[in-house]
Amino acid sequence: MQTPTSENRHTKKETALIEAESLSSCYSFCIARAYFDPPSNWYHRETVMSVDKSEKRIQQMFGEISPRYDFLNHFLSGGTDYYWRWRTVRAVKLRDDAPILDVCTGTGDLAFAFWKRGNVPVIGTDFTHEMLELANQKLPEPEGSRLAPTFLEADTQNLPFDDDRFQIVSVAFGLRNVTDTKKGLQEMVRVCQPGGHVLVLEFSMPTNPVIRGSYKFYFRHILPRIGQLLARNRQSAYNYLPDSVSEFPQGTELAEIMQSCGMEEVTWKPLTFGIATLYCGRKGSVVGQSDTAVRDVITSTG
Ligand SMILES: C[S@@+](CC[C@H](N)C(=O)[O-])C[C@H]1O[C@@H](n2cnc3c(N)ncnc32)[C@H](O)[C@@H]1O
Repeated sequence: MQTPTSENRHTKKETALIEAESLSSCYSFCIARAYFDPPSNWYHRETVMSVDKSEKRIQQMFGEISPRYDFLNHFLSGGTDYYWRWRTVRAVKLRDDAPILDVCTGTGDLAFAFWKRGNVPVIGTDFTHEMLELANQKLPEPEGSRLAPTFLEADTQNLPFDDDRFQIVSVAFGLRNVTDTKKGLQEMVRVCQPGGHVLVLEFSMPTNPVIRGSYKFYFRHILPRIGQLLARNRQSAYNYLPDSVSEFPQGTELAEIMQSCGMEEVTWKPLTFGIATLYCGRKGSVVGQSDTAVRDVITSTG
């Protein structure tokens, strides 16, 4: 049974929300929601929630938000996502003798950025069919003999490629969603050529306390509401976003995981006050290769 006080508060809350919505102002709507979601709940949600990252849930969630994914990506990041991708495709020098693979490619933006950057074949993989359909819709008109990027449906934890095939294997904002992070990274390393690079672009939390505080508020209370309002997704994809970011390793911790998966010389660069971080690892000559490949290297070097 509700007390008269809570009934009044409920009415006030609904009124504020309806008014804000009817003004079609996403921001005021979200701020109103954030205001009425008392801070006492925040701690509870941050500490108690453990994110469901089962393959089925992830596929369903991205399938549902796919029609608005690109728009929301650019809108919610204020266009900064273009800059992050720009930095990623310039992180290592491209050679023209081996293809590039972008896993968890979604609607393919990083794959297209690599394709524009160099004259090399680019493959994008993802396990959500709806996201890949949108990637395929962005394919450019054929240009002379140059092949357009190719998109394939595949689980990052079980990639359908031979060992040592790609000069770069990248992932943008996808590794955090892979059910088994290590398995995903190990597969990325397996298909990367010895001496090639694995690039991971992922959200992170800023280290400056002032920026971190404001960003946390935006990320946890404004962004999920705008996202959900516009994407209208049952799986709460934009609540999932801050939850999955706060649970995901960053900085030294992720670099150590990358190293344990066979990468050497792992470096990382915080971007835009540390809202995103770009990690770069190099695959060593022997670690992470299949037994046959290791045997070949050992015999050929005597
Ligand atoms: C946040 S989106 C990122 C898309 C794109 N890379 C970008 O930067 O916009 C995450 C993508 O990872 C994909 N994904 C998550 N787990 C995956 C897995 N195990 N195998 C393949 N794709 C996966 C989802 O389907 C989704 O398209």
